Amino acid sequence: MAASLTFALLASLAIAAPTADSSSCTGTISSLSDVTAAVECTTVNINAFTVPAGETFTLSLLDGTTVNVNGDVQFGNVSWAGPLFEVKGINGNNYLFDGGGPFYWDGLGTNGGTTKPHPMMKIEISGTMSDVYVVNSPAQCFSVSNPAALTMTGITVDNSQGDATNSQSNGLPAGHNTDGFDVSADDLVIEKSTVLNQDDCLAINKGTNLVFSDNYCSGGHGISIGSITSDVTVSGVVISGNTVVNSQQAFRIKTDASATGSTVSNVTYSGNTATGCTDYGVLITQSYPASLGTPGTGTDISDINFSGSTTTLTTESGVDMVAVDCGTGACTGTWDWSSLKVSGGQDGPIDNCTVITGFTQ
Ligand SMILES: *[C@@H]1O[C@H](CO)[C@@H](O)[C@H](O)[C@H]1NC(C)=O
Ligand SMILES: *[C@@H]1O[C@H](CO)[C@@H](O)[C@H](O)[C@H]1NC(C)=O
Ligand SMILES: *[C@@H]1O[C@H](CO)[C@@H](O)[C@H](O)[C@H]1NC(C)=O
Ligand SMILES: *[C@@H]1O[C@H](CO)[C@@H](O)[C@H](O)[C@H]1NC(C)=O
Repeated sequence: MAASLTFALLASLAIAAPTADSSSCTGTISSLSDVTAAVECTTVNINAFTVPAGETFTLSLLDGTTVNVNGDVQFGNVSWAGPLFEVKGINGNNYLFDGGGPFYWDGLGTNGGTTKPHPMMKIEISGTMSDVYVVNSPAQCFSVSNPAALTMTGITVDNSQGDATNSQSNGLPAGHNTDGFDVSADDLVIEKSTVLNQDDCLAINKGTNLVFSDNYCSGGHGISIGSITSDVTVSGVVISGNTVVNSQQAFRIKTDASATGSTVSNVTYSGNTATGCTDYGVLITQSYPASLGTPGTGTDISDINFSGSTTTLTTESGVDMVAVDCGTGACTGTWDWSSLKVSGGQDGPIDNCTVITGFTQ
């Protein structure tokens, strides 16, 4: 008797903390209070129900879950920020998404040659995306425009095979325009990710509250804001703890010379390490597409800091370690660069920018 009582107790504990095997169950959701238990199963059925006003219906699903919606879902009416419905958790488990890049690569990217599917990965979710491993994107890889807060963690973009020439590329590196992450989004964290490519590791085109931290970028054009076109805002960007190796630049802000009505503000770089920059270490230019040219004045760049933990950067010899090319009066605010340490190359021009403090080349 005592033994079978113990067994029954263990069995009920096992139900409380399900094992992998027990996830092959079917969970049913008919109210928000059913969600926690239902998402322990890999089949989730949603019946008709009304989500109470002001609450988010969040599904944080196990890998491989199938969701069947079996009735209308209504949401209580109240004025609030939302979201109303959020699906969390794409875990790629580092299985490959193989874009077949070598089939397309001709050294020209999206500037010519064959038509290449791009972006390869268009991300329009909120929540968490982890351990997604992409190889050989035909051209630009991730385009991110999340509708609410998103964390991308442990992502890999490996286009290193495109560094070599191929039979279609006329002696050019075969991969081209293979941006790692193109971002037009708010409330995004990209962390602990790796990009091996031939263009920007990150390119922020617009958005607020963006964090790019603890990533590794190799072989491309570095960590970029821009290029900035007209009437866009970039603000509240933190770039920290990243490692950039063998790239054209480590850090770049590029605004189109022709752009008007745009702002780039409140950008903080801290605790980054860059080695082997081939074109510039830091390049801030309002002359884009020229690196150094005739700057426009239609985009205000303000409050750009290298502060907090030291950012250390080395370039190849003969390369400008820091170059700043602003239009008159278009670089403003406080630029505290006291935590930027550069070496290896030569002093670049710092033109039309008198707001940098705490830094000497
Ligand atoms: C919210 O308002 C809309 C429009 O009036 C209505 O169709 C919907 O049923 C309402 N939802 C609830 C849960 O009452
Ligand atoms: C600057 O950006 C950070 C990070 O997004 C944010 O916490 C802070 O409030 C911003 N500061 C200003 C003055 O906007
Ligand atoms: C930049 O540094 C200055 C001086 O420390 C500080 O006042 C300002 O808030 C900082 N801005 C950002 C965007 O961190
Ligand atoms: C300073 O800005 C003005 C106005 O945009 C531009 O014409 C000039 O070329 C800039 N100077 C340098 C040295 O870049």
